[in-house]
Amino acid sequence: MTPLSITRTLPADATAAALRADVVQGLSRTPKQLPPKWFYDARGSDLFEEITQLPGYYPTRAEREILLTHAGRIAAATGARTLIELGSGSSDKTRHLIGALTGLHSYVPVDVSESALAAAGEALLAEHPGLTVHALVADFEQGIELPGTPGPRLLAFLGGTIGNLLPDERAAFLRTVRALLSPGDALLLGTDLVKDEATLVAAYDDPRGVTAAFNKNVLEVINRELDGDFDPADFDHVALWNAENEWIEMRLRARRDLTVKIPGADLAVAFEAGEDLRTEVSAKFRRARVEKELAHAGLELTHWWTDTADRYALSLSTARA
Ligand code: SAH
Ligand code: AVI
Repeated sequence: MTPLSITRTLPADATAAALRADVVQGLSRTPKQLPPKWFYDARGSDLFEEITQLPGYYPTRAEREILLTHAGRIAAATGARTLIELGSGSSDKTRHLIGALTGLHSYVPVDVSESALAAAGEALLAEHPGLTVHALVADFEQGIELPGTPGPRLLAFLGGTIGNLLPDERAAFLRTVRALLSPGDALLLGTDLVKDEATLVAAYDDPRGVTAAFNKNVLEVINRELDGDFDPADFDHVALWNAENEWIEMRLRARRDLTVKIPGADLAVAFEAGEDLRTEVSAKFRRARVEKELAHAGLELTHWWTDTADRYALSLSTARA
């Protein structure tokens, strides 16, 4: 077997069908909304990487700090031989973990972005030529079929991406994760923490407009895949703190009355001036909520680490029998 294999778990047209269904459902309802997974074509993945370098976007740096400090403890606690990573993107921070997992046999990155998986796989193998990388192009909210690699398994879900799921989706997702693990296997989960509103909003509204371009990229994806005629210039990027739900919302706000045609979804969508399309929520957490939600899914929190500025947490939990 070659050390890097990339497996598509769905036929290519399943992605277009799923986008069509989300567009029909999300743009026909009030208020309008779309799931954030559609940001991540090749350009969206590149824009996300650019976001991680912005001065105001602290989660990536905070999580890297925690991984650099505690990777040895994570390795000792789990003894993982297979590392699975959901929403792995560039796998850049994961390198610190892979370096510490001395008995690691296989790395299984899972992402909807094939371009990100291919680039990450090549970069990792250059650094760890003995590693087997089974990359899966898959939606982690649907069933994932893992390769038969040796246990114990450590499943990593980094970056705070769990916050991009709505509460119901999050509960279902954690049950799916628990079902992928055997008793004694572990979950390493990155969660951004509740903090002051100004810091949070600044992380999602940068002066260079990189986050705005990332947000508007979903319109480009719809234009390309479903033949839509969105003009991104007709929308403003909006980032706001929803204090009741303790999440950031990214929205696209129509600058004028307009109608968008999306023939690939058999749809004409009217926007009024000032009307919002919610494109992402990014929930922020407190320890008690993380612990409770994990316990609901059959996962027991064993470690909780934060960065020195207490902005972000990485938790380790084990699958209960
Ligand atoms: N884990 C990386 C990347 C985070 S960006 C980090 O911490 O920096 C979120 C990643 O999750 C992107 O690479 C995106 O393509 C992927 N993603 C988002 N929704 C997904 C889904 N439903 N299934 C699989 N991957 C998804
Ligand atoms: C991937 N995810 C955790 C990012 C976040 O912070 O919610 C996506 C993002 N959206 C805007 N900036 C970054």
